[in-house]
Amino acid sequence: MNGHFSIAIDGPSGAGKSSLARSCAAKFGFLYVDTGAIYRTVGLAAFRRGVDRRDEAAVSALLPELDIQMAYNAQGEQCMFLNGEDVSKEIRLPEISICASDVSALPAVRAYLLEMQRKMAREHNVIMDGRDIGTVVLPDAELKIFLTASAEARAERRMKELVAKGVEADFEEVLRDIRYRDEQDSNRETAPLKPAEDSVLVDTTEIDFAASEALLCRIIKEKLGVEEIG
Ligand code: DC
Repeated sequence: MNGHFSIAIDGPSGAGKSSLARSCAAKFGFLYVDTGAIYRTVGLAAFRRGVDRRDEAAVSALLPELDIQMAYNAQGEQCMFLNGEDVSKEIRLPEISICASDVSALPAVRAYLLEMQRKMAREHNVIMDGRDIGTVVLPDAELKIFLTASAEARAERRMKELVAKGVEADFEEVLRDIRYRDEQDSNRETAPLKPAEDSVLVDTTEIDFAASEALLCRIIKEKLGVEEIG
C-alpha cells in the first residue's frame, strides 16, 4: 500500500462497473476513476482528426498534440477535457465507444495513459474501473474485482442508459457493438481484458443493481476493513 487504498474493478463493457464503482466510492469516501473515459477522449481526438484508429504510427503522432485533463465537478462527477474543451458528453456517443476500443488496442496509447492513472492512485483512495487495472495499472491494489454479466444482459442495460440520456439506440446494434468490443478488448496483445489471478469474480447477470452494490460493499468492508461514511 502506498498510503492510500486502491480498489481495481475490471470487466467487459456494460457489466455495471461504472455505476457500481461510482456508488461504492461515494459510500466509502473514495475517489471514483473511470479510466474508460480517458481512452474515449483519445478515441474522440482520433475520430475528429480523421486518423486511422488502428494505425499505431498515425495515432502516436497525434498524442503529443493532445492535452487530456480529468476534473471533478461540484456534483463529484468526473469530467474529461480535450485541449481545454469539456468533452464529457461527446465521448459517450456509441461511435466513440468503438473508436475508444480501437485506440485502446495500441500499446503506444496504453503506455501514454499509464502514468496518469497511477498518479491518481498515489494521491487518493481510489476505486478505479477499466480493463487492465488489476493486471497492469495497479497490480498491488488491495482489492481486485472482475465484474461480468452475459452480453445480452449488458446490452439491455446499455439500451436503458442510452434511452435515459435521450440517445436513440437499436438493441441489435448495441449487442453487436458490445460483442465487437468484448472480442477486441479480450484478444488484443497488450493488456487484454482478463481477470487478475487474485481478483474476486462477480457475475451480475442474475442480480440487480441493489444486490450487486450490497455484494460489492460487503467485499470491500471484509477485504479492506473500512466502513461506510455518513
Ligand atoms: O469502460 P468503457 O466502455 O468506457 O471503455 C471504453 C473502451 O476503452 C473499451 O472498449 C476498452 C478501453 N479501455 C481499456 O482498454 N482499458 C481501460 N482501462 C479502460 C477502457
